[in-house]
Amino acid sequence: MIVLGLESSCDDTAAAIVSHTPGQRAKVLSSVVDSQTDLHAAFGGVVPEIAARAHAEKLDLCVEEALSKASLTLADIDAIAVTAGPGLIGGVLSGVMCAKGLSAATGKPLYGVNHLAGHALTPRLTDDVAYPYLMLLVSGGHCQFLLVHGPDRFERLGGTIDDAPGEAFDKVARLISLPQPGGPAIEQAALNGDPKRFAFPRPLLDRPDCDMSFSGLKTAVLRVRDKIIAEKGGLTLQDQADLAAGFQAAVVDVMAEKTRRALRLYLEHAPETRSLCVAGGVAANSAIRARLETVSDEVAAAFIAPPLSLCTDNAAMIAFAAAEQSQLRGPDDLTLSARPRWPLDTKQPSMLGSGKKGAKA
Ligand code: KG4
Ligand code: ZN
Repeated sequence: MIVLGLESSCDDTAAAIVSHTPGQRAKVLSSVVDSQTDLHAAFGGVVPEIAARAHAEKLDLCVEEALSKASLTLADIDAIAVTAGPGLIGGVLSGVMCAKGLSAATGKPLYGVNHLAGHALTPRLTDDVAYPYLMLLVSGGHCQFLLVHGPDRFERLGGTIDDAPGEAFDKVARLISLPQPGGPAIEQAALNGDPKRFAFPRPLLDRPDCDMSFSGLKTAVLRVRDKIIAEKGGLTLQDQADLAAGFQAAVVDVMAEKTRRALRLYLEHAPETRSLCVAGGVAANSAIRARLETVSDEVAAAFIAPPLSLCTDNAAMIAFAAAEQSQLRGPDDLTLSARPRWPLDTKQPSMLGSGKKGAKA
């Protein structure tokens, strides 16, 4: 089965072609990602109207490029997959309309895919991971622990109750005058910092669950920053580095302990398959990666982190998710709708808040 995937739920316009044969490792034949970062840079966040317009302008070009890179034409495609939510509604609509047009014109089946399912299934695209596995999804817009039972069965064990971790990295970077995106800037600055100089809180560790919170930590950094500025008139490079190191150490501690708890729940449920997978831009952080690897070693679980190009937003994960799901369900029809919110686990109450890049679901 050769699937064309489209992704436009946030600020990346993407098209990809994936070849999938049941029982074998799928192949990414092409993956095109056109980032809108420059369009939004002046606004300090993603502007939904600008994003939707840019997706509408770029989607067909990305599809053409994906086909050409794979040396295929639309006639070779067996199915069309598209992110149908959750995300910024204008962008999701742009993708869904484009996919419907392609499906109506070619008669190929159409699959609406949950963006979070795309992220959560990626380890099976890049590695031989058996169900069920534990997934920690950490990016600028998402933060959740998922027990992945199958292509369309997800159990949420916990997640953020306020900011996503990438969002916290970005906001803290802004507070201490480091450039965007904040994650890599903080990681870099932290290399020269003393993580013990400031005693930042480890939010929600007093609660026995797997939920996390990053907004109070950000406020704690703000208070310390303001105190230093009031006393000395500004931040030195060393202050910046110490603030970055202290903040990052707090995030690492919280994520490690909550992952330990999520692993415990997962292993009680499925002691025979032991895999901890991560996805999302924040999984690029070496300090976070190293600690999560240690935590999975503690319980002899395999640690799997797909390459960054497939960890961050892309359309190959959408095409792959549709191929996996097509073994369990039929295609959607042209009444497929775009959904701003679409929780993967409908049995759990929805998490609070909405990320920099849209609804957290
Ligand atoms: O997955 P992603 O590319 O986009 C979405 O959020 O959908 O993640 C981007 C986020 C940004 O908030 C960025 O600051 C964060 O991932 N990030 C990092 C690092 N690299 C990117 N956070 C911490 N450490 C990093 N090295
Ligand atoms: Zn995403």
